[in-house]
Amino acid sequence: MKSETKTVNKSNLKSIYDEEMIKMLNAPKDGKSPYHVFTFSSIKNKKWPELRTVVLRSFNLKPNFISFNTDSRSPKIKELRNNKNSCALFYDNIGKVQIRFHAEAVIHSQDATSREIWKQTSLQSRKCYMGDLNPSSKIKHWHPNFPLGYIKKDPDIKHSELGFKNFTSIKLKIIETEILKLYHDGHVRFKIKDDKFNFVAP
Ligand SMILES: Cc1cc2nc3c(=O)[nH]c(=O)nc-3n(C[C@H](O)[C@H](O)[C@H](O)COP(=O)(O)O)c2cc1C
Repeated sequence: MKSETKTVNKSNLKSIYDEEMIKMLNAPKDGKSPYHVFTFSSIKNKKWPELRTVVLRSFNLKPNFISFNTDSRSPKIKELRNNKNSCALFYDNIGKVQIRFHAEAVIHSQDATSREIWKQTSLQSRKCYMGDLNPSSKIKHWHPNFPLGYIKKDPDIKHSELGFKNFTSIKLKIIETEILKLYHDGHVRFKIKDDKFNFVAP
């Protein structure tokens, strides 16, 4: 009997890409999506890679970009000012898909873009930007790094404005996308740059 050999062509790659991009577009509003959080990298002291988990706040196609929110005092901001090159890594454990984006970071702080995003930010999230301590700084004793009166409640809208000075939106302009989809009969891996799809050895 003739054994069937699996074939994968560029139109299959396009279908995988389209399917994953739909999931990515839905992920900012869907806390249960595997793509709702991702691992974001920057370069520390021009030497060491640094990684952390962040929440996906927006995803856009054509132009392709991602955004997440952070505190302007956090070390990642200094790292990105020194080197805007970064990676964003997503993994869907059910679909067995890894997506890696190579991107250039644009920092929006105290500008019209960050003001617009701040307006949509919940009071619970705004609280995280109201602390006196620089995020990631060493502390002698535990402190939540927001005013202690808000441990069990959210600030009112007026007081929450205190956080805006620290609020930052990072836009990641995607330069290259790489997808790896795992299959028992042979993984599929490819890169997309300038709308061109290319196979990569899995
Ligand atoms: C599930 C999860 C979501 C997080 N989301 C964010 C986020 O959206 N923005 C952020 O700045 N930090 C977020 N953090 C904290 C970061 O992982 C990290 O600890 C912090 O930003 C300090 O990073 P840095 O010292 O490299 O600047 C999140 C952590 C977890 C566990």
